[in-house]
Amino acid sequence: MFAILNTEIRMKPIQMVDLASQYQRLKSEIDPAIAEVLTKANFINGTQVKTFANALASYLNVKHVIPCANGTDALQIAFMALDLPEGSEIITPGFSYIALAEVCHLLKLKPVFVDVNPQTFNIDTNAIEKYITPNTKVIATVHLYGQTADMEAIMAIAEKHSLYVIEDNAQSIGGEYTFSNGSIFKTGTIGHISTTSFFPSKNLGCFGDGGAIVTNDDILAEKIKMIANHGQKVKYIHDIVGVNSRLDTIQAALLTVKLKYLDSFIEERKAVAEHYNKAFENHSHLKTPFVAFNTTHVYHQYTLQTCNVNIDDFRKVMQEKGIPTMVYYPLPLHQQNAYKQDISLPISELLCQNVISLPIGTDMDENQIEYIIQNVLNYFKS
Ligand SMILES: Cc1ncc(COP(=O)(O)O)c(C=O)c1O
Repeated sequence: MFAILNTEIRMKPIQMVDLASQYQRLKSEIDPAIAEVLTKANFINGTQVKTFANALASYLNVKHVIPCANGTDALQIAFMALDLPEGSEIITPGFSYIALAEVCHLLKLKPVFVDVNPQTFNIDTNAIEKYITPNTKVIATVHLYGQTADMEAIMAIAEKHSLYVIEDNAQSIGGEYTFSNGSIFKTGTIGHISTTSFFPSKNLGCFGDGGAIVTNDDILAEKIKMIANHGQKVKYIHDIVGVNSRLDTIQAALLTVKLKYLDSFIEERKAVAEHYNKAFENHSHLKTPFVAFNTTHVYHQYTLQTCNVNIDDFRKVMQEKGIPTMVYYPLPLHQQNAYKQDISLPISELLCQNVISLPIGTDMDENQIEYIIQNVLNYFKS
């Protein structure tokens, strides 16, 4: 008891993700990078944007990275570049963040929600083919929580049915996927187009909004660049309908600094996850994240599946102890008022009832991790 009290006194407050500590750690590199933008006042399309795009392209080993304003815009621009007929069907997981469904509706495309694999929480590749119709044009997968969807299966289905594949890589940048022939690819470099978000809490996050579109296809890349820039290649000459979606120079400058540390950020997240895994493995109420043999997990979230747990009560008790928790996501996409479909996706529906995410991030100290573990374990003892 005395030891725990001591730990509580010394411990810094716990957050779902501690962005302030990460900034303090990198301040000596980040501040001059931002100051340079302020001094040059090249706020829009400064050279730092190109520098960042090139650095990310080389990190991912991909031909084109087109920065844009956020991860939702990135998805919208990716779909616009495919020029799909109205009503085209887009196969996508039913348990995910809202952005994909939202963008489909905005572009008058039809999201076809498919249930997810109960272990990986990613799209159930065994279920995809039964949803394919002559109107299906795209499989838009999400690499949820930090784990890559089964891309080998997805690419095989897409090839068989002549479909595009879009990877929503907002939660999994830096992850890797190994094909059965042994070749290894970074997530977000396997499909025809991938998108990502630099929302501050993402594994590679900026100090506001940011995003990018990634492709190896030269023709799509050209089109994506135009769409993101009002549909113009030559200033004030607009050949196609576009949007205004730019990554600010300040964000690009800072992301260039942070990108150098992305792999070490991931290692730090993995270390936290390993502590949690060890503490909660074989627990009768908690199931630790499953990591498929051919993927890595970059732990954008550390999400437990619970069994016979009152999630609201658990969250309330944790909150009283100063431990934030989150439910990503409390309602499946087909049950959201704006996107309602009268279908049943049992796994997605169940996960919305029983998943719980614990704090994870780069600058957690051992006291915080131990405090969280002890309180979670104690909850089930009382
Ligand atoms: C899977 C996924 N897709 C898309 C987005 C949208 O990104 P943004 O908030 O940058 O628009 C997010 C952000 O939370 C996300 O997690």
